[in-house]
Amino acid sequence: MDDEKTAACKMDGEIMNESKTNEHIPTRDEAWILLRQYNDNDSLIRHALAVEGVMRHFAGLHAPDDVEQWGIIGLVHDLDYERFSDSHCVKVREILENAGWPQKWIRAVESHGWELCVPVKPETLLEKTLYTIDELTGLVTATALLRPSRSVLDLETKSVRKKWKQSGFAAGVNRTVIEKGADLLGAPLDEIITETILGMRNVAEAIGLQGSPELN
Ligand SMILES: [Fe+2]
Repeated sequence: MDDEKTAACKMDGEIMNESKTNEHIPTRDEAWILLRQYNDNDSLIRHALAVEGVMRHFAGLHAPDDVEQWGIIGLVHDLDYERFSDSHCVKVREILENAGWPQKWIRAVESHGWELCVPVKPETLLEKTLYTIDELTGLVTATALLRPSRSVLDLETKSVRKKWKQSGFAAGVNRTVIEKGADLLGAPLDEIITETILGMRNVAEAIGLQGSPELN
């Protein structure tokens, strides 16, 4: 069992939960308050929610005991971008350390900027997933918005694949990072795209990709 995982112990005949390291485990509410404290931009908030949704989905597939942790880390991964874009993935360490977040969670946030703004290589499955799907959510969003429905609910993997090949489309999406992430994960790109779409469908309304009611 990992250090930060909750250990069950017996005390006075009752099962009680306590952290082995007495480490503070951040809640989703705390993460949301921090996010709103440092971010006003609606599109960045929607991006944070999209990445959270996808991380929760992947955790459900591969780490079902850690869905909350994966989701919260996804939610805050770009926490410092709006106000500290020059020190993105660096400033966030100071912010999260001041908030008492676990070192492993902070490292996971940092590592999504591997070779872009920090030298922290994604090592865990959580870190590799975050690194891979961060940019991909941007391509999925841009592709969904092109559809008549403007929705992720009826978006298919093949549509995203088609747009992947058009380098001028959503040119800001770094395809190389996504490919490097897929290599780290050892998973086919199509599978990652499919699961990313499914994760974004779970939060479609929150990220503005549920489509227009009159078109559905
Ligand atoms: Fe991001």
